[in-house]
Amino acid sequence: MDKLVITGQNRLHGKVRISGAKNAAVAVIPAALLANSKVKIENLPLISDVYRYGAILRSLGAKVEFNHHKGIMEIDPKIKDPLNPPYELIKKLRASYYLLGVLLAKYGEAQVSLPGGCDIGSRPIDQHIKGFEALGAKIELEHGMIKAKASKLKGAQIYLDVVSVGATMNIMLAATLAEGQTIIENAAKEPHIVDVANFLNAMGARVKGAGTDVIKIQGVDRLKGCTHMVIPDQIEAGTYMIAAAATGGDVVIENVIPKHLDPVSAKLREAGMKIEEDGDYIRVRGVQKPKNVNIKTLPYPGFPTDLQQPITAFLSIANGTSIVTETVWESRFKHVDELKRMGANIKVEGRSAIIEGVECLSGAPVRATDLRAGAALLIAALTAEGQTEIFDVYHIDRGYQQIDAKLRNIGADIYRVNGDYLKSVAK
Ligand code: UD1
Repeated sequence: MDKLVITGQNRLHGKVRISGAKNAAVAVIPAALLANSKVKIENLPLISDVYRYGAILRSLGAKVEFNHHKGIMEIDPKIKDPLNPPYELIKKLRASYYLLGVLLAKYGEAQVSLPGGCDIGSRPIDQHIKGFEALGAKIELEHGMIKAKASKLKGAQIYLDVVSVGATMNIMLAATLAEGQTIIENAAKEPHIVDVANFLNAMGARVKGAGTDVIKIQGVDRLKGCTHMVIPDQIEAGTYMIAAAATGGDVVIENVIPKHLDPVSAKLREAGMKIEEDGDYIRVRGVQKPKNVNIKTLPYPGFPTDLQQPITAFLSIANGTSIVTETVWESRFKHVDELKRMGANIKVEGRSAIIEGVECLSGAPVRATDLRAGAALLIAALTAEGQTEIFDVYHIDRGYQQIDAKLRNIGADIYRVNGDYLKSVAK
């Protein structure tokens, strides 16, 4: 297994280019199966979740060509067998649940084992199922497998009991080929939902209102292939913003949509950092030791839960006490024990982490327990005195393209041991 070795306290400086958004990519790739002709997806991040989704589509019989240099995937969506995508791949990918909406809409039947992904507390999919049932599908759960069937989905009005990115996306995917109009109320508003809606519309779907809490989908008979460019990754960009600030650095983060990062910019400014933005870049300068701030995670446009762990690492070296409250996931604090091994002073009480800032963290061997916990440990390691070894790097590789190389380019002292993990999943 790979590990990352970081010697801390280098100020990050220079320019870093952000890759395509993971959470858009893992919806756009399966959504390509809705089309009747070839789909070309550009600006895909080179991360293991993308390689795995390509492999899942191939296992269903689709022709998938992935240009690893350019991040372009071409998908011929004709598949041989919509049932039984391989459990070995499905279990590693939370977003495999999008196959349910897509295959149900296109083939009237889907069977997908319950999805995997990061272990950040209970991750129910009752809202997805509620949506499919409202569209007329029959759902059964058997031996860890979700089986969905419907001869023809019919549009319906669906109110989501919780704001769920996955359920909003899945119902939107399924409704594109349903008969009549579907209305999703209390929909999630994340940028990747807008990106997927734009992709569906480019294929001929009629989706309106994505980015607001009411999405209306007028079903169409068929969808055609198109070319789509995935939006930049808001969470990858936020991670580099926090890393730049934490190291007292000066970094220009390129290829971003600054608006998507407003909550992060606001909180970093509150902590005393200098943030400038224009066009498609954000410059972050860590001009002083961070001041304490309180943060509550919320669905978009609130502060993203996926940056809760990285910002906790940043605040662990702030002046004073900060409180970070996680309202989206029930147990997303596994990184705290690892941060404590590096000298952080953090207490978790219920859904809040109470962070007493310390002067400095110190390097230690630590384990990435999930994707964003890994990002938090990297940020901690970049600020720490001495050397940190991060184990279980495969979690980080699920969502960050070449993070070691990108950090090295902006001045980090970081190297990877046994660096062929991505090659093995790309096969
Ligand atoms: C997506 C993101 C993940 C991010 C999360 C919240 C992808 C692939 N992953 O995950 O990185 O952390 O959004 O921004 O896009 N819930 C239910 N019932 C459901 C579905 C969700 O109760 O049927 C609850 C969850 O337990 C959680 C909350 O709703 O508490 C939000 O989950 P959701 O937005 O669905 O997260 P994901 O789509 O899985």
